[in-house]
Amino acid sequence: MEDTVFLNGEFMPRSRARISPDDRGFLFGDGLYEVTPAYGGRFLAMDRHLARLRRGSETLSIPVPEGIEALHIELLRRNHLEEAEMAIVYLQVTRGTAPRSHAFPDPPVPATVYAWAKPFQRPPMEEWEEGYSAVTTPDRRWTRADLKTVQLLPQVLGQQAAREAGATDALLVKDGIALEGAHNNVFFVFGELLVTHPASNQILPGITREIVLELAREEGIPVEERAVPLEEAKCASEMFYTGTTTEVRPTVRLDGKPVGDGGVGPVTRRLHQAFLGRISRECGLAPV
Ligand code: PDD
Repeated sequence: MEDTVFLNGEFMPRSRARISPDDRGFLFGDGLYEVTPAYGGRFLAMDRHLARLRRGSETLSIPVPEGIEALHIELLRRNHLEEAEMAIVYLQVTRGTAPRSHAFPDPPVPATVYAWAKPFQRPPMEEWEEGYSAVTTPDRRWTRADLKTVQLLPQVLGQQAAREAGATDALLVKDGIALEGAHNNVFFVFGELLVTHPASNQILPGITREIVLELAREEGIPVEERAVPLEEAKCASEMFYTGTTTEVRPTVRLDGKPVGDGGVGPVTRRLHQAFLGRISRECGLAPV
């Protein structure tokens, strides 16, 4: 059955959704997006996703309409995903449709608001247990990587480089620093210590990253938020990625070489379990 999407105030079958070729999202990548997960029909950390969207909206003067949370709930309902083990809602807001001219339309035009929901399948646990691989690739993004804009060409190229290398994730490197993945954040373990890049303008401040940092502190795992040179990253005993569709994903090979002993490490396992526990608690599911 065809899914129901939301476009500019209306719910409709996906095949009926149309936007103008003069939409600024299409012409300039002039828009923001969010991806929010729901487990058993309950959203995880919706308030944080909305806060990130609001921050982008204020920074770029792209107006985000009211009622985004209700829209998310309604999209799950209309797509029969209230009981889905896991689902995601994608939301995109662009500066709207106007004749092509770089500066903002004056007077302003209504934002284009597009959203959809779909079920999300976790990989089987046996696959997770084997671990995943990553490859390094240059970070070609602008200086506001902290804003979740739809200008994703550098991330597209990074993820394609990973695919062509037969790897799951990209490790974006700028000025010798291992920053994050093409659509997820990265963590390294050195002995007991958990390290990830600070939430600066160089990375997207992931909600999953933030939750994992909180969980690490709760678990008594020492944490440092600092830049990790690639040369140091190569000596990590463990490495994992975090993100809405990534959850906590162990990396056991980087550029074809084993990370640590080449297996999924204990800190990654602990944080993965803690993350699943957080989902159960926040989304009212049976404990893991
Ligand atoms: N990606 N870093 C980048 C560059 C991202 O695009 C994302 C999210 C993250 C992780 O953020 P979060 O934990 O809030 O999902 C980090 C989304 C899911 C995407 O592009 O599909």
